[in-house]
Amino acid sequence: MHQKTLLQLARKHGTPLVVVDHKVLRNNYAQFRKYLPRVQVYYAVKANSDPAIVQTFYDAGASFDVASVAEFLNVHEKIKHLPAKQRQDFIWDRIIYANPIKAIETLQRLDPYKPLVTYDNHEEVIKIARYAPHSGLVLRLNVPNTGSIVELSSKFGAFPGEAVDLIAFAHNNNLVVEGLSFHVGSQCTNPKNYSQALQLAAGVFSEAKMRGFDLKLLDIGGGFPAHYDDTVPPFRRVAKMINAELDRLFPQPIEILAEPGRFLVASAATAIAQIIGKAVRAGKLCYYINDGVYHTYSGVIFDHTQYRMKSFKKGPTQICSVFGPTCDALDTISLAEQLPDVEMGDLLYSENIGAYSAASSTSFNGFPPAKVVHVNQ
Ligand SMILES: Cc1ncc(COP(=O)(O)O)c(C=O)c1O
Repeated sequence: MHQKTLLQLARKHGTPLVVVDHKVLRNNYAQFRKYLPRVQVYYAVKANSDPAIVQTFYDAGASFDVASVAEFLNVHEKIKHLPAKQRQDFIWDRIIYANPIKAIETLQRLDPYKPLVTYDNHEEVIKIARYAPHSGLVLRLNVPNTGSIVELSSKFGAFPGEAVDLIAFAHNNNLVVEGLSFHVGSQCTNPKNYSQALQLAAGVFSEAKMRGFDLKLLDIGGGFPAHYDDTVPPFRRVAKMINAELDRLFPQPIEILAEPGRFLVASAATAIAQIIGKAVRAGKLCYYINDGVYHTYSGVIFDHTQYRMKSFKKGPTQICSVFGPTCDALDTISLAEQLPDVEMGDLLYSENIGAYSAASSTSFNGFPPAKVVHVNQ
């Protein structure tokens, strides 16, 4: 987004501010569809659950990955006006509840909607059979997450060697397993994770078939990397490899879906904050701004992502520290930003801050989350 537009919005709405550009959201969705034409897009709502963002993806024709009752209801809000049959078809065909571990109360809330849910262990099958017997099942596989920024494989996923037994166990509990899912880890810049995961999934598909279970669905998860900088491989290159592997390993007409979060929203948002304090500590220029890691920059902690800070003013730069507004020293956005010597009250901004940022913002220390404005809706 142009600096001039950002400055105008900051003047109009004040700071801290997050600007979400819906043209970028639509463009990212279109890119995903273009480069992975066999894959149905289920937006992973957890990446940014702002209802306006969910609405834009709904209008664009997306499906949804939800992982809590609140996220399910967020999407359900968009379809509640539909006639009952259409609404039920949407839930079945276009929503996946992709959290392999679900509390009993969650299953009880979901069951009337006859959802598609993921699972990865025996205990979960017993719970689902008892508390949400109308669900369809998708078995989540454990796959390599090597080199991905956010590692998920230590928490979720059945090992391929136990997969078909878990499918049989669900079957013996009167549940139907529709297919498999996996997640290669978030911000996956190592495309080999996808090829290995597809290879493992293909092996489970054929073993399942030999044992009489015909799987119809493959969910290739999230992980598609946002272009934070030029070290990230371009999406079209990752997609090309995935397409080739899908055609080689899954030539049959199965349903293929993905759950991208970050790729769709990261580049659509820019955060703008004001310099509220300035000091020199051990010879280093330190800026204190009115947004921080308990707020929009929460991805620094939870998402292991470093957002670059930029200045609207030009001038010779030096390595600076940038801190958030709270009293906690953990509220450190960066100890090494290349910035000019700007004044108190000036503004700094960060691009590519749409994913896992506002989503995990808090009100810690009494500082409310940044205001969010939507443009090009
Ligand atoms: C089950 C599941 N699907 C999809 C996503 C979205 O992943 P990403 O934002 O890397 O695309 C996540 C993220 O944690 C997830 O846990």
